[in-house]
Amino acid sequence: MAPSHNRPPPADPADRRKVTTKSLLRMKERGEPISALTAYDHTMGALLDRAGVDVILVGDSVAMVVQGRETTVTVTLDQMLYHASLVSAGVERALVVGDLPFMSYQVNADEALRNAGRMVKESGVEAVKLEGGGASICETVRRIVEVGIPVMGHLGLTPQSIHKFGTYQVRATSAEEAEQVKKDARALQDAGAFAIVLEKIPANLAREISAALKIPAIGIGAGPGCDGQILVSHDMLGLYTRFHPRFVRRYAQLGEEMLGAFRRYVGDVKTRSFPTQEESY
Ligand code: KIV
Repeated sequence: MAPSHNRPPPADPADRRKVTTKSLLRMKERGEPISALTAYDHTMGALLDRAGVDVILVGDSVAMVVQGRETTVTVTLDQMLYHASLVSAGVERALVVGDLPFMSYQVNADEALRNAGRMVKESGVEAVKLEGGGASICETVRRIVEVGIPVMGHLGLTPQSIHKFGTYQVRATSAEEAEQVKKDARALQDAGAFAIVLEKIPANLAREISAALKIPAIGIGAGPGCDGQILVSHDMLGLYTRFHPRFVRRYAQLGEEMLGAFRRYVGDVKTRSFPTQEESY
């Protein structure tokens, strides 16, 4: 990251040049922070794109914030393909990344390759994301990258492993786990990943990893020292309010806004003040 006195000006929203894995690398090199958010449908994808968001992730968080599930582990590949195809159809500039859901890439590299291929071919996303950084995951990343599909890694709190962790608390607070995350980040870079999400790890560790890597590290709950930031759109819009971790800055209270609008509508229908003559044919 560039020191604060030497920061580049904010990205120009009128710059509609396509974001690619290469342009993300150049953004890191010149110290321009990368903005990323999640989307699950055409309308949201198109709005994020108009706003100048650099990376749009069709996250498996769809399971929680759209499908109402307790965790991300239940979402299927077919459901991810559906949401990813809606988003990519609405986006022109941002790089669109599709999450590979739990058990679509862990069995073996052949199956992972087939499923990554389906994600790109059937939904139109430009890259895939998968969680973890052990030897077999890195081999899988290598195979997927080899055929020409860019891969984003994801370390730290990896929600697909929630049943192993047992909690969504901050990860890598022990020296041993911090060392492992650093090692996994380097291994993912060596395997050909174009970027890595660092979720809910101490800010100092995330800063150190970001500085050590050539590829961008995009943080969520990982402090300001990362090369970019990502949030779940439904969290930052105040649409999903079941949890409010401290790293979620609420930019709107859309849940409350929508509730108010729905209540006003119900009231208007009940009192026959909707529709009026002007709203009729
Ligand atoms: O699924 C998702 O939304 C994610 C982000 C939290 C990075 O993986």
